[in-house]
Amino acid sequence: MGNKLIANRINELTASVTMKIAGKALTMKASGVDIIDFSVGEPDFPTPSRIKKAALKAIDENFTKYTFNSGMLELRDAISKKFLRDNNLEYDTDEIIVSNGAKQALFNVVMSVVNPGDEVIIPGPYYVSYPEMVKLAGGKPVIVNTKEKNGFKLTPEELKDAITSSTKALIVCTPSNPTGLVYTEDEIKALVSVIEKEKIFVISDEVYEKLIYDNLTFASFADAGKNIKDRIAVINGVSKAYAMTGWRIGYAAANKEIIKSASKIQSHNTSGASSISQYASLEALSGPQNEVIIMRDEFEKRRDYIYQKAITLFTDCVKPQGAFYIFPNISSFIGKKLNNRQILTSADLAELLLDEAKVALVPGEAFGSDKHIRISYSTSMENIVEGMNRIQSALEKIK
Ligand SMILES: Cc1ncc(COP(=O)(O)O)c(C=O)c1O
Repeated sequence: MGNKLIANRINELTASVTMKIAGKALTMKASGVDIIDFSVGEPDFPTPSRIKKAALKAIDENFTKYTFNSGMLELRDAISKKFLRDNNLEYDTDEIIVSNGAKQALFNVVMSVVNPGDEVIIPGPYYVSYPEMVKLAGGKPVIVNTKEKNGFKLTPEELKDAITSSTKALIVCTPSNPTGLVYTEDEIKALVSVIEKEKIFVISDEVYEKLIYDNLTFASFADAGKNIKDRIAVINGVSKAYAMTGWRIGYAAANKEIIKSASKIQSHNTSGASSISQYASLEALSGPQNEVIIMRDEFEKRRDYIYQKAITLFTDCVKPQGAFYIFPNISSFIGKKLNNRQILTSADLAELLLDEAKVALVPGEAFGSDKHIRISYSTSMENIVEGMNRIQSALEKIK
């Protein structure tokens, strides 16, 4: 056994910087402190009742057993129809795998394509799990720090410069957690023209597809990049669109070879996702879609308010066009003090705002940028107004 119990691969994982602050926020909440929680990563709405009813029906009718490892055929069929309806994409049911959340779908695909030593390009700021998944597969995450002046979007030049002979894949996220950026069809096409020549694989995380504002039309990477569709895996799920984070259903669509491999991994890990959640997801995807629009409209109102407020408080703040996060630049506060506490990092500011303003949010460090904080507006308008006022009062005291 040697003298080390824990496997080396775990040493490679980054300990979560957000845990300390999240833990502290929880303790404060539990002891009765009135915390406004801007750290949330899930919709604050309940799961729509038609979906809950479908789950109850599945239980009543005893659909409570193992399903196909890669997901119930009916659900994969509904996902295939969803791709055609919403994204103009054709996927057969054997080009789709249903997993325990989009996160497992992502992990399965990363494990399927990344060999030890392979480089995987990840534009930063990024979703916290991407680099860690790549490391778990033995790969090397190559973070490309995008520019705020470009709305945090990866440019074709930046992509080209990052590609080496060891590059295996690129992981993109649109709409993005944490920045809220949304790539347009033309922007994707420009990236695809680089990818086409360089023969790399793309993993496109599109879990926030339905939360998109300013009348934008969502562009899926696989649709805009149809000529290289075989080299793209699309990740999506029901968590964010239907307020179903706890049901744990996500999916991946890609060529058969990738899906077969993802299925192999899943079969030796969790097996198929919960049968009840799969029935609920079938209803989510194939039933009437009006709740999605209602939730989206509410998020857009909140985005409008929070953005207007944020630009008065922070020197730079990119306007998010999707998801439910805003990612203001906090550089002007770095090196300053509040009540004799010096702010040197995004975690310092986040902790200070927790103590002084009783507002919980996530330091940008978690997403690869120490010059930002992530504020989630997945909470009521009342909480948003109160929370932003509290942040304002605290920031005004920073000297
Ligand atoms: C960008 C992104 N991808 C994937 C996920 C994981 O989604 P799921 O809850 O379906 O596993 C999240 C959740 O926060 C996310 O923000």
